[in-house]
Amino acid sequence: MFTWRLENWTKFFGKTAALHGVSLVLESNKIYGLVGPNGSGKSTLIKALTGVVSLNSGKLFKDEEEIFIASPEDAYRQGICAAYQELALIPDLSVIENLELFARLNARLNHKKYTHVLERYFQILEYFRASFPLTERIKNLTRSDQQIIELVKAFSFSPTLLLLDEPTSFLSLSDIDKLFALIRSFREAATIVFVSHRLSEVLNLCDEVVVLKDGINIAKFSAREVNIDEVVSLMGGVRGVFSAGSTPQQTHEEQREPFFYAHVNTSKVHDVNIKVAKGEVLGLAGLVGHGQSEVLQVIAGLRSGHKDLSLGGRRITIRKPADAVRAGIVYISGSATDVVLPHRPIRENVSLILNSRVKFYTLIKTKHEKNIARDMVKKLNIVCRSIDEPLQFLSGGNQQKTVLARAICSKPNVLLLDDPLKGIDTATKSEFYGLISEAAKDMAIIFFSSDVEELLPVSSRILVMYEGKIVAEFSGSNMTKENILAASLQGG
Ligand SMILES: Nc1ncnc2c1ncn2[C@@H]1O[C@H](COP(=O)(O)OP(=O)(O)OP(=O)(O)O)[C@@H](O)[C@H]1O
Ligand SMILES: [Mg+2]
Repeated sequence: MFTWRLENWTKFFGKTAALHGVSLVLESNKIYGLVGPNGSGKSTLIKALTGVVSLNSGKLFKDEEEIFIASPEDAYRQGICAAYQELALIPDLSVIENLELFARLNARLNHKKYTHVLERYFQILEYFRASFPLTERIKNLTRSDQQIIELVKAFSFSPTLLLLDEPTSFLSLSDIDKLFALIRSFREAATIVFVSHRLSEVLNLCDEVVVLKDGINIAKFSAREVNIDEVVSLMGGVRGVFSAGSTPQQTHEEQREPFFYAHVNTSKVHDVNIKVAKGEVLGLAGLVGHGQSEVLQVIAGLRSGHKDLSLGGRRITIRKPADAVRAGIVYISGSATDVVLPHRPIRENVSLILNSRVKFYTLIKTKHEKNIARDMVKKLNIVCRSIDEPLQFLSGGNQQKTVLARAICSKPNVLLLDDPLKGIDTATKSEFYGLISEAAKDMAIIFFSSDVEELLPVSSRILVMYEGKIVAEFSGSNMTKENILAASLQGG
């Protein structure tokens, strides 16, 4: 068991200082929560510890001995291991092929027997009771299953310094519980760094909290000594700042003509009826995997299934995603990476849908595009050098914000939000609530979130889904976190 000491770490990407003189001591048998706004340097710190990113300056000590990490292999040899935010799996290989590959590497670097190492991978996979076939290619798995494999990989290395970069964003509540139990059991033999934007998770799991802001380590304290509000204000945000003269409108469907109507049926989703008025944000709740994403994807033409749709009193047919865009129905998801153009500038990523709806692309449009992109970068605090910077250089959360910006500025008739706030920092969430409530005046919004607290500030009604069905509806004073969670767990 070791004490790790980072001394004066600095990393520049061009002119951006992702890390700026960070010094930190990480003791053994402790879980450290690493928090900070999007783009504050958390992932960069983790990647520098595993040799994926090379520092401009800074030293690393293991106990009192200085060590040098120039590559991920060096890191493994020192017992440092990470589950990355953007995952490090080979998408075209199957689960078993990936695991065999990593087990071989593990066995070679740690002078262990390959078969023993592989057995260990299976034990941890079994612990998560993963249900996917081992012969399935990584790219065909859900993001949550991919996340589990990334975790299995990290835990199986028997690390002495274990780094987990936003591991919970895509996991179900029960998998998060399992993960936390596993992390706690690893604390006996290791130092653990846990990154998350869900501050309640951090305070619940961790012993110490480290706050990064603009690449600077601005605070470190015991998790028992602080509450969420204090952490948020340290990061420079204000918690729960959703007031803006805008308690969500208590619009009941009886009072307003439904502007958008959908009836969806698939093998997983049963008889789901949704009516939304213009100006309404309809919340969709329930545990992850109970059919919410399917409903939204079927409506958007991204997934097949039986559906009846009408918009503004007229029936519409959507066979493919392009039909949806044409009808002004825009879908975005929290797994931003499937829908971005990584090599293209932020500007183009923002205006993608907007431009697909204009007939002639002219210089005026380019100017318009730039203005919109600048406006969105400002409103959503997208940390970037300029709107012409390729999207791939943004931090995970800032890429996600770009996709949100795209949806909001495309001014659709119906906006389908599929758990869009994963990995988004607290301050930006409040900004988003304001933007969504403003945008909702001219459209109907269906908003699924795996976190009830994200739904409450903006939804006028909340439907709860359980095993593919709508089992409860809440509005007004019944719309409380307790009621919604009870329905999510018990099915109504
Ligand atoms: N490969 C890269 N090229 C250029 N800039 C980069 C690169 N990786 C990170 N950056 C920049 O460094 C800064 C820190 O990014 P980092 O990914 O460490 O943030 P983060 O704290 O993990 O954010 P998030 O919460 O959004 O994941 C950001 O401004 C980002 O744009
Ligand atoms: Mg990150």
